[in-house]
Amino acid sequence: MYTYSDLPKYPPVLFVRLADLIRRSLIRMSRRFTHPSVEMMEHLQNLWLIGSISAVNELGIADILRAGPQNIEELASLTGTHEDPLYRVMRMLSSQGIFRETGDRIFSNTPVSSSMREKELKYFIQHTLNSMQFRIFGALMHSLKTGRRASELFVETNVFAHIGSSVELNELYNRAMTNTSRMQVAAILSAFSFSKFRIVVDVGGGQGFFLSALLSKYPGMRGILFDLPNVVGNPEKLPSDFGGRLKVEAGSFLETIPSGGDLYTLKNILHGWTDNDCLTILGNIRKVIGGQGRIMIIEAVVEGRNTPSWGKMSDIFMMAGPDGKERTREEFRILLEKSGFSIERIKKTVAPLSLIIAAPK
Ligand SMILES: C[S@@+](CC[C@H](N)C(=O)[O-])C[C@H]1O[C@@H](n2cnc3c(N)ncnc32)[C@H](O)[C@@H]1O
Repeated sequence: MYTYSDLPKYPPVLFVRLADLIRRSLIRMSRRFTHPSVEMMEHLQNLWLIGSISAVNELGIADILRAGPQNIEELASLTGTHEDPLYRVMRMLSSQGIFRETGDRIFSNTPVSSSMREKELKYFIQHTLNSMQFRIFGALMHSLKTGRRASELFVETNVFAHIGSSVELNELYNRAMTNTSRMQVAAILSAFSFSKFRIVVDVGGGQGFFLSALLSKYPGMRGILFDLPNVVGNPEKLPSDFGGRLKVEAGSFLETIPSGGDLYTLKNILHGWTDNDCLTILGNIRKVIGGQGRIMIIEAVVEGRNTPSWGKMSDIFMMAGPDGKERTREEFRILLEKSGFSIERIKKTVAPLSLIIAAPK
């Protein structure tokens, strides 16, 4: 388990926004010099790119290259693959800056390939690009024609029940969430002071990464980690109990929520659910929260017309897979109002996540 001191350090939000603005202007300018059909062909190449990323990620090549550059013969032998196809995939990925060919058929990591290591994004990449996702996205038309999730063609039950039904999927999913949490939590903790909260209930808190970072940073705080039994049922997978400050409760937020918190956090939860389910979850929090309590939704807020954003991309993932959606500020406002909350403030972070803080009405 990582600790608060392991978290990456980020520059201030304003600086990151400015850098992003410059980067996007350069992309727009480069498009002006590109024929539209060429640009479209470049988009199509993404299928080959992500197929290759998926395979190389699964082979653990970024972790192997931590020790230093390797020639392709050695890489093929260590990963049980054929030298020629592996070389061609690595050559292509190096042409995109993902690895680097430093000598004749010798490869090394770049900062981008390093992010495929186990401690970074390996499991998130594996979860996002698993073979089921390729099938779901091959069937996206089903969502457009029926208004229902494309995943229903392959998975009958709700996605979380499906994940919980297999030890391997469950393990991979939990590791994937911890992988992204590491990046996100650093951004959240640097954007907001949680010092005035005494008891934080992390609703759907996965295996406790966010909560343990909070408890490490704020020694006077107590926390309740709440998630499904298949996620929090095995104490070996969870953080220490912080000398009794961290309690774990198993259950479903569609039925009940632990009481006693003065802050209820929902990080990457509502985007996996329909509006009706969100009203149930928020309504269950409303039943137990005190008048002085606060709720904090930590999610992407979909931005205005034509603005590129992670939220608009992830929204398609949510539509096709779990039948959820990423929401605009107005959509969050309506959901919260209907559940008896009003938005107090929305704080951006350097990650594509905002903190939406609301109080009971
Ligand atoms: C996208 S993950 C987010 C995990 C964590 N909050 C994070 O940001 O890394 C969604 C979480 O919701 C949990 N979850 C799904 N259905 C649930 C339910 N009915 N009751 C409680 N937790 C649930 C999942 O087990 C999973 O940990």
